[in-house]
Amino acid sequence: MTSLNRRTFVAGAAAISGMAVLPRSALVQEALPVLRAAPSMAQLAPAGFPATPVWSYATQGAGLIPGPEIRVRAGERIRRRLVNDLPQPTAVHWHGIRIENAMDGAAPLTQAAVPPGAGFDYDFVAPDPGTYWYHSHNRGWEQVARGLAGPLIVEDRAPWLGEPGAATRELTLVLDDWLLDANAELVEDRWDDLHAAAHGGRLGNTVTVNGAAYPDLEARPGERVRLRLINTATARIMPLALPGLSPRLIALDGHPVPPRDVETILLGPAQRADVVVDVPLDLEAPSALFIDAGNGEWVSIAAIAAGGQPLEPSEEALLPLPAWGTLRAPDLAASQRETLVMEGGAMRGMSEAVYRGETMDFRELASNGMVWAFNGVAHGMDTPMFRADLGRTVQLEMTNRSMFPHAIHLHGHHFEVLARSGALNTSGDVRDTVLIGAEETLEIAFVADNPGKWMLHCHMLSHQASGMMGWFGVG
Ligand code: C2O
Ligand code: CU
Repeated sequence: MTSLNRRTFVAGAAAISGMAVLPRSALVQEALPVLRAAPSMAQLAPAGFPATPVWSYATQGAGLIPGPEIRVRAGERIRRRLVNDLPQPTAVHWHGIRIENAMDGAAPLTQAAVPPGAGFDYDFVAPDPGTYWYHSHNRGWEQVARGLAGPLIVEDRAPWLGEPGAATRELTLVLDDWLLDANAELVEDRWDDLHAAAHGGRLGNTVTVNGAAYPDLEARPGERVRLRLINTATARIMPLALPGLSPRLIALDGHPVPPRDVETILLGPAQRADVVVDVPLDLEAPSALFIDAGNGEWVSIAAIAAGGQPLEPSEEALLPLPAWGTLRAPDLAASQRETLVMEGGAMRGMSEAVYRGETMDFRELASNGMVWAFNGVAHGMDTPMFRADLGRTVQLEMTNRSMFPHAIHLHGHHFEVLARSGALNTSGDVRDTVLIGAEETLEIAFVADNPGKWMLHCHMLSHQASGMMGWFGVG
């Protein structure tokens, strides 16, 4: 029972019996709302296929794909007791939240992974509004691929929805990619497939929207809707399109951008985009959310079915989201300069790298499951890539010397993409995960204002597992 239910129950009982309500302190111990990780079943494949055994999160009862939406207002506290009913240790990472280090869930750096049968209490403030997500951060390449991910929505401090020029409704769309066999079961024997890891990662063959293949999304003619798009896939980069719906981008990775028209939206693993669409009054051809599956062909992954009473279309110009007002601007004049060179993978490789303190050639690295390196170190968890004093601006030049794109994520901080933004980014955008194309160099900057040990890794989780992993220290 959640604490809310218990309090409601106590209050209700008191009203019936006329007894005084017990003061809160008299309750023995107020239990945190539970987030239970456990095996369950989900209908991922289209109707007619069997349900898929997955691992998922639940608040009560059976687990859900995606996990239950967690929703608070900016500045509010999130409290959850992780209960691990999985056959493996696990931990929960709150992706993109500028969180207190001890609550980051980045096992084994910020906490030990929670063994089966045990629990862990997460209690933190979500300081910035926006679209986020939570996911397993232990054996992520397996646990996230099995389904351990869910949306985390931090609402604006002052209401935006319903204001003149804003959307009147919002919809969270969690996009995922699953590797299923002919019986709709997850392909189990390829969690750490080194061949996939040396290429684009463990790609799936079934894309779902909110855990379903080709769902119908209802929309009213004339309606203006805010879509919160989240890519929870472990490897798939998703080029998306919403033809006929005049999509305008209003936020990336939770952070507002000045509204801009977009023909396509590129979402790397872990990235989010908030997009406003205007549903036309006369939606002649049924519209859809399309994805480029990788061969340049756009396929529909969700139908947008117009129905119900038409709404008067908004005449107002689109209202931008309010600025966060919580992020310090980087001071480039006094920045600490750092570099991150990414090497490895198929078709380019690397001659050698350090793994666990030993210099190894490519063969030896591969026999240890390593095919990637950051600054010549594969999976460098012993020492930080760099340290920054609290409050110092870090300017990080990232060079991708491989033939594959990567989605680089910094924990605990949002960063600004500078003028050298690469082809896949717009300079000035503020993000927590950035796509860097093959043989590209881009620069980011952030104020290191969150003390602790913060992971920095590729969010293609098989790349993370096979070497693209490190951390930096602040304070
Ligand atoms: Cu989304 Cu290190 O994680
Ligand atoms: Cu990568």
